[in-house]
Amino acid sequence: MLVSVCMAHARIELAPSVLACNFSRLGEEVRAVEQGGADVIHVDVMDGRFVPNISIGIPVVEALRKATRLPLDVHLMIDRPEQYVEEFVRAGASRVLVHQEATPHLDRALGLIRESGAEAGAAINPATPVVMLTEVLDKVDTVLVMSVNPGFGGQKFIPGAFEKIRQLNQWRARYNGAFRIEVDGGVDAEHVAELAQAGANTFVAGTSVFHTPDPAAAARQLRKLATEALSQKV
Ligand code: DX5
Ligand code: ZN
Repeated sequence: MLVSVCMAHARIELAPSVLACNFSRLGEEVRAVEQGGADVIHVDVMDGRFVPNISIGIPVVEALRKATRLPLDVHLMIDRPEQYVEEFVRAGASRVLVHQEATPHLDRALGLIRESGAEAGAAINPATPVVMLTEVLDKVDTVLVMSVNPGFGGQKFIPGAFEKIRQLNQWRARYNGAFRIEVDGGVDAEHVAELAQAGANTFVAGTSVFHTPDPAAAARQLRKLATEALSQKV
């Protein structure tokens, strides 16, 4: 039983974050990483309130939906995200991730995402312990562990994420959970193998993919490192 649970979660996904793209060439950049084997496109939405930065919104999600066949992983770094869930799903979000810290109604927000037809994800900031999510673990398709304080690309990875991922991985195995574990912030070739071994499935990578001479090759390499690390795990 335990073996089949582990197998079910062995899948690795590389999710390039378009926040680090050259926005004047958004479609081309996304197609390049698609060629490089990206599994998901990560889209960072920021409101200038929940996080101290403003990024992109619904029209960009609509444009991305037309530019790629890959699932769109829409990370809402906005206050009271439940107010916008349906619009983002209509715009083309395949997955919607909301922050535990951004709403007193996390359970409702997650329910709304699924009712709207998307996969639901709950995200936690570096200062939030994983225990804050225990009551919703059966209602999520993804748990997103932030390994930087959300708001900006290009920040340094915070190692506290490792222990959180290990804990989530244990709970998942113990309770036969079916959620993915996603990690976001400062993910690069240095950390990706250890993160995969800790139990992470979905790797968000902005700077380490798009701020390189060949984003497709960078995506391919990160995905390979994660996959190999997992197959080496005993
Ligand atoms: C940070 C965002 C991340 C960001 C990651 O607030 O949620 O998705 O784009 O970028 P890097 O990989 O550069 O840390
Ligand atoms: Zn993100």
